[in-house]
Amino acid sequence: MAPPWPAPRLLLLRRLPDALAHFSLLLDEVLRLVDAVHHQGDSINKSVVAAMVVDGLCRERRIEDAWRALEDMRLRGWKPDFVAYRIVSEGFRLSERAEEEGRILKQKRKLGVAPRKEDYREVLLALVSGRQISDAKEMAEAIVLGDFPIDDDVLNLLVCSVSEVDADAAIMFCKFMIGKERFPSIQMIVQLCEGLCKNGKGDEMWEMFRVLLDKGYCTSERDYHLVVSFLGKAGKVREAYDVIKEIKRKKLDPGISSYNSLMVALCRNDLLRPAKKLWDEMFTSGCSPNLQTYNILITKFAEIGESEQVQQLFDHMVLKGVAPDSTTYTSVITMLCQENKYEQAEEIFNKSVAQDPKLASSVLTVFVIALCKQGGFKAAVGVMSSLPSNIESFNSHVILLKCLTDVEEIEMASEHIKWLRRYCSSAFQNIMNELMASLSTSASLQPVRKLVCYLHSQGLVNEVGPWMKLIEDDYA
Ligand SMILES: *[C@@H]1O[C@H](CO)[C@@H](O)[C@H](O)[C@H]1NC(C)=O
Ligand SMILES: *[C@@H]1O[C@H](CO)[C@@H](O)[C@H](O)[C@H]1NC(C)=O
Repeated sequence: MAPPWPAPRLLLLRRLPDALAHFSLLLDEVLRLVDAVHHQGDSINKSVVAAMVVDGLCRERRIEDAWRALEDMRLRGWKPDFVAYRIVSEGFRLSERAEEEGRILKQKRKLGVAPRKEDYREVLLALVSGRQISDAKEMAEAIVLGDFPIDDDVLNLLVCSVSEVDADAAIMFCKFMIGKERFPSIQMIVQLCEGLCKNGKGDEMWEMFRVLLDKGYCTSERDYHLVVSFLGKAGKVREAYDVIKEIKRKKLDPGISSYNSLMVALCRNDLLRPAKKLWDEMFTSGCSPNLQTYNILITKFAEIGESEQVQQLFDHMVLKGVAPDSTTYTSVITMLCQENKYEQAEEIFNKSVAQDPKLASSVLTVFVIALCKQGGFKAAVGVMSSLPSNIESFNSHVILLKCLTDVEEIEMASEHIKWLRRYCSSAFQNIMNELMASLSTSASLQPVRKLVCYLHSQGLVNEVGPWMKLIEDDYA
């Protein structure tokens, strides 16, 4: 249902107390304004307006004015409800004015009316859909802190929106809901936790999950995964591990996704011994690592140069029949190249060729770049000249030739060009065109000139071809 009040008008109502403060309007004036707004066809319940006005005043620490407004509005027949009275009594309580607080509470019992959930619901939904999130938040705080009724769907929606602007308020709403023995929606948990991660509020997150777990929130592998992955993301690895233990104590299966989430978190925090322990634990629990698990560990060990571990993991996965993917291959090959173990890298590359030519083609590009970066030009030329014909290698040839030119390995470059002309005659012209295009953006044209002159002297490029344009200056 569309909210009956347009958001701008609501905003006006919320801003009245500001107007009071900043333009020194008289309270009387403001109330007349509210009446005017009201007469223009709004169906907004005046009890709600009363609560908004006093809330705004109290937030400006203008408690006396709030009280006066409350009285005025009551006399105008606006029927301030319990929410409005509570806001003002809280204002006095916070300023340690117990006597006034008591008087308001007495009035509340005598004159106030019970708040109508539906009316607040409409206002809150209108504020949220009008993206007036902090106004919605303040209104909802008045309700929640006073322990007044509010629907779960409104709370879920509020938490989702408020998480972006105020993680503490969002968690307060969430706790309120849990305290009422009601469970937040998955979407609410996701949005809230993302907000908490962004704001470094891992402790608050854990506190919330602890309560949810104790109340039996998680019933499926998926629910637990949500908890474990967010704890991991927030760096709460010990807690995430405790949750896994708890799942097992309940004789449930944590599932591979939870293990992987924790593994990612351990690796990200350089906790490699616990990571290895978790790895062993997976086997003893009968949960075999999958491709993702292998990749998490291989990427990490490759990054820190633990080549033995990487090799072992790679062999292990092949042995277990888990097919490596491009992440696996590129991590392993890049690491081996960095250690100048070109032959081992080529062996691994050959495995990708045997596995899947398309995969091998993308791995090849990374392999050539890694070899060139290390200065392994000979090895790179060797690899590129012994490829099976079903491997798409166009880009890799261009990359290799550009590298060779840039480091002025002119002879090697032209040898490779000759080889291409001979053995890849159908792709030759396209490779040369692409090479020219990429060379024209080289920082220094000197090596390019050298290459073109050399190619020219070998009769590999035409006198008038576009290649000569690259070096026209030389003849100018
Ligand atoms: C507004 O809500 C109050 C309760 O909070 C109720 O007593 C009153 O009748 C409502 N007014 C209208 C116009 O619906
Ligand atoms: C990889 O495969 C190519 C082509 O089949 C072969 O020539 C080369 O020797 C192999 N390299 C290694 C290190 O096994």
